[in-house]
Amino acid sequence: MSVSPLSRLQDMASPGRLSLHENLSAAWQSPSNIAIVKYWGKKDGQLPATPSLSMTLDLAVSKTSLLVSVEETPKGLISVNDDPNHPFLPKMQQFFHWMTGEIPLFNKITATVTTHNSFPHSTGIASSASGMSAFTLCLLSVANRILEAGISTEELIHLASYAARMGSGSACRSLYKGFTVWGKSTCVPASADEYAIPVNESVHPEMLSLRDAILVISGNPKSLPSTLGHRSMNGHPFFSGRIGQANHNLEEALHALASNDFEKLSFIAECEALTLHALIMSADPGTILMKPATLLAIDAIRNARKGGLPLFFTLDAGANVHVMYPATSEFQVEKYINDVLRPLCEDGRVIFDGCGRGPVCIEAR
Ligand code: PMV
Repeated sequence: MSVSPLSRLQDMASPGRLSLHENLSAAWQSPSNIAIVKYWGKKDGQLPATPSLSMTLDLAVSKTSLLVSVEETPKGLISVNDDPNHPFLPKMQQFFHWMTGEIPLFNKITATVTTHNSFPHSTGIASSASGMSAFTLCLLSVANRILEAGISTEELIHLASYAARMGSGSACRSLYKGFTVWGKSTCVPASADEYAIPVNESVHPEMLSLRDAILVISGNPKSLPSTLGHRSMNGHPFFSGRIGQANHNLEEALHALASNDFEKLSFIAECEALTLHALIMSADPGTILMKPATLLAIDAIRNARKGGLPLFFTLDAGANVHVMYPATSEFQVEKYINDVLRPLCEDGRVIFDGCGRGPVCIEAR
């Protein structure tokens, strides 16, 4: 069995560093991300069945802080936002339990979490990606300080990508700015199934300022839980073909990003979004997540592109539509969004975002 990278924290720990009743806190802001090449289906150990490529968002972030004390009778993670019955708590406790297996120090702490998202619920923005990546960074920051391990922020972020996927797969891609690949692929030699890596060095500067407007077609939280969705790929009749397609689309998308080929990126992103929904619709049981207005928006986006406007769509596992366009055409595309696409949205809700800068440490005390 291979050694977990998280053992670095324990290996680097200073002797005699753990004192009781130490009060420590850490706070991180971490973004959500939108996949261009989708992760859908997994292997054992929370590893992706296909490689994926995402763009980190800028304004859609979770701000999370962790308060920790080292105690003789530790209680573990006890509350979220001062609420011992908070709906996020069970998932965070499950992840905390996994982290405790990796970093035994967590057996000795009582912890509380406070977390807030900058974006409203059920808007098609993955709050698990931003929330879990921020929580992981907080946990690793306090462990680094309690153990006096002296691990650099850069390495901490790498370790966080390794760990965050256990909380929510796509969270591992939120640790880096710009564009990120998760999952082993022959076209990205440094890629791995266990963590994500940034690929910005080979991305054209114009692509690094891509915009993303989220059309809130439905604020109804009822989408497909991703655990069930990933599981439904086991034995899915199209899944073996999907693996080859995802690898091919990753290679093509990376070429498009490198050469600033917006047309090619549009083709790949839309193919990926429609494939994700085709897989979901043809699984057992089949689920239709798109709404009539989702299809109207897709149609309008494609018509506008035929008319010369540079924009494309992608979808998550839900009804809402992400509209992506270059910053250089922001004025014309946003006018089109406001005039034509906004009326298709529930209560006219559109969230304007774009390619982001990755996590930010807010506080370490
Ligand atoms: O990270 P999860 O387990 O919530 O899965 C995310 C799946 C998609 O959002 C549909 C695609 C992706 O790659 O982000």
